[in-house]
Amino acid sequence: MGLASSLHLFFFLFSISISRAPFGNSWGKEGHIMVCKIAESYLTEKTRKAVAELLPETAGGDFPSVCPWADEVRFRYHWSSPLHYINTPGVCNYKYSRDCHNSKGVMGMCVVGAINNYTGQLLDCGDLSNQYNLTESLMFLVHFVGDVHQPLHVGFEADEGGNTIIVRWYRRKTNLHHVWDVSMIETAMKYFYNDNLDTMVKGIQLNITGGWSDEINSWENCQNKRATCANDYAVESMHLACNYAYKDVEQGSTLEDEYFLTRLPILKKRIAQAGVRLALILNRIFDSSNGQEIQSL
Ligand SMILES: *[C@@H]1O[C@H](CO)[C@@H](O)[C@H](O)[C@H]1NC(C)=O
Ligand SMILES: *[C@@H]1O[C@H](CO)[C@@H](O)[C@H](O)[C@H]1NC(C)=O
Ligand SMILES: *[C@@H]1O[C@H](CO)[C@@H](O)[C@H](O)[C@H]1NC(C)=O
Repeated sequence: MGLASSLHLFFFLFSISISRAPFGNSWGKEGHIMVCKIAESYLTEKTRKAVAELLPETAGGDFPSVCPWADEVRFRYHWSSPLHYINTPGVCNYKYSRDCHNSKGVMGMCVVGAINNYTGQLLDCGDLSNQYNLTESLMFLVHFVGDVHQPLHVGFEADEGGNTIIVRWYRRKTNLHHVWDVSMIETAMKYFYNDNLDTMVKGIQLNITGGWSDEINSWENCQNKRATCANDYAVESMHLACNYAYKDVEQGSTLEDEYFLTRLPILKKRIAQAGVRLALILNRIFDSSNGQEIQSL
């Protein structure tokens, strides 16, 4: 084979490997890693140490690398699948007592219940009767704080948070849920950030210290000292799902620049909020010296 044709083959194989649909069923890997990279920069020294001690060996000390883990065990730990989301009965409001349950009606089995559950397990980490695997508690917690900020993780039951709404993202066939988990992030990285995750994280961090700096206090405002404020984050997601994600989308819609450019600011802000709030939750759990501690759940 001549050089030209082997190069040709190389690019052909390369383009197959990058165009394969990425794995994942909630903010794709990229979304979760971005949330945790942003959170990492706000951890206190004490929290950083506590988190590092709980990481599994396989993480090699890299905290963001464990943030997609909960998706990888979703089928092995079948019971954990409903902990990634909330479904509402087709209305644009969410109520814990009505909506936070699994398909068998067991209360608390939703993303808000899970965030409070795993926060509670980590708070009790000094307690010798604590029977939980706290490495897993941490890996679940960091993932679900990401998920609760993805607007379509608080969506309608009938369309499974947009999973059954088939759309075209530019030319590729996909579904609306996947657009928010993965496609918008991929397209944003490609258009604006050199196809580089760290560059996108830096861009979001610049917005946090720039245009959004006035809002950080309100993002961090959590009156609920007895638990996390995950319930409030779910309410926000529900409203964003109705006002942006579902808005003007039908079965078979083609979503292109207009949808992308009007929704991308929302998506970036949700990643930023998730990161800032994850750091807040972890600091409240592991570093009581910052005056934000949570009373036991
Ligand atoms: C709480 O965590 C335990 C251990 O992972 C799990 O068995 C249980 O289903 C969780 N419940 C909720 C609501 O997250
Ligand atoms: C805790 O969970 C992690 C991740 O699933 C696993 O690798 C580890 O072996 C578990 N530890 C114990 C003591 O079971
Ligand atoms: C975020 O940063 C980008 C690039 O610097 C800028 O164009 C955009 O206006 C910023 N957005 C906000 C809300 O500050």
